[in-house]
Amino acid sequence: MTVDLSHAPTATTHVASIYNSAVAAWAVSAAWELGALDALYEARTLDAEEFAVTHGLDPAGTTGMFRALSAVGLVERIGARVTANDAFDAVYHNKSFFHWLSIGSAELFREMPSVLRNENRKGDYYRRDAAAIAYACREIDHVTYAPTFWSALDRVDFDVTHVADLGCGSGGRLMDLMRHFPGARGIGVDIAPPSIEVAKQEVAANGLAPRTEFFVGDVLRLERRPEFDEVELLTCFMMGHDFWPRENCIATLRRLREVFPKAKRFLIGDATRTALPDTQLPVFTLGFELGHDLMGTFIPTIENWESVFAAGGWDLVRTNRIEMTVGEVIFELA
Ligand SMILES: C[S@@+](CC[C@H](N)C(=O)[O-])C[C@H]1O[C@@H](n2cnc3c(N)ncnc32)[C@H](O)[C@@H]1O
Repeated sequence: MTVDLSHAPTATTHVASIYNSAVAAWAVSAAWELGALDALYEARTLDAEEFAVTHGLDPAGTTGMFRALSAVGLVERIGARVTANDAFDAVYHNKSFFHWLSIGSAELFREMPSVLRNENRKGDYYRRDAAAIAYACREIDHVTYAPTFWSALDRVDFDVTHVADLGCGSGGRLMDLMRHFPGARGIGVDIAPPSIEVAKQEVAANGLAPRTEFFVGDVLRLERRPEFDEVELLTCFMMGHDFWPRENCIATLRRLREVFPKAKRFLIGDATRTALPDTQLPVFTLGFELGHDLMGTFIPTIENWESVFAAGGWDLVRTNRIEMTVGEVIFELA
């Protein structure tokens, strides 16, 4: 295609900043996985070449990675010497959102032209990296849901001997629950075998394997099994939107009541659809909402959710609005 560039604007600095931010998003994610973000956060300054040598990395590429951070003002760089600043600390706090986008969801966004074509939108038409998403989600949870989650657990006023986490990912929440209720048995259910594998390893490494069981299964089509019969506390975080649309959601909520007949409390924590102006979107919102549109996943609003609980057989005890980046909320159901 030939494009007439005679009207090309001259705001090249702005364009370069957009481009460099895209490159830097990859660098932030890689630097986190390689331990470089943690090293810099703690030491405040490091030598990129030395870091490369001690971590078995290519020196030129590693310096380039730090240069990408420098290009968008996250570090000061003189040669190989890199120093963190306030902007670095802010990004460090938000690193999991970058990783979710540029590593966990990379293939989805790379395939955007194909994924948008109606003729392709059937069956398994997109790919994401389930293990990488689970890795990022653990920290996303820590910066968004965790404080409210702990408060909700403090309001559990009955003995908990069995807990189940639905869509358990890499098992972090299940381990938290089992530590919070010492002696309780834990059950993790997830549809993705790679996530269950990571979860099993983590649980074993933390000495919790003897009182934990994992099942690969679809939460939307779960069948009753003896192991589920004793569960009093159910949690489901960052996958509740998969229950939707409305009729499916009501059916899933009802089914979960049957599959977990003794469940007294159900905590659902998830993102909800925001209605912010395009130019006022915080970190994560844009990637999360576009990503889910690409995947054809309906993201309900808080009001959508509140309209299904009674029909699904659950009483809404409390709505905890967190609304930090993607309309996060925790519903406490009884
Ligand atoms: C965004 S991650 C959240 C992981 C974990 N709940 C947490 O709080 O960190 C969503 C998880 O739900 C799982 N999942 C998605 N749809 C599912 C389904 N229908 N049945 C079971 N698991 C599902 C995914 O494999 C993934 O591990």
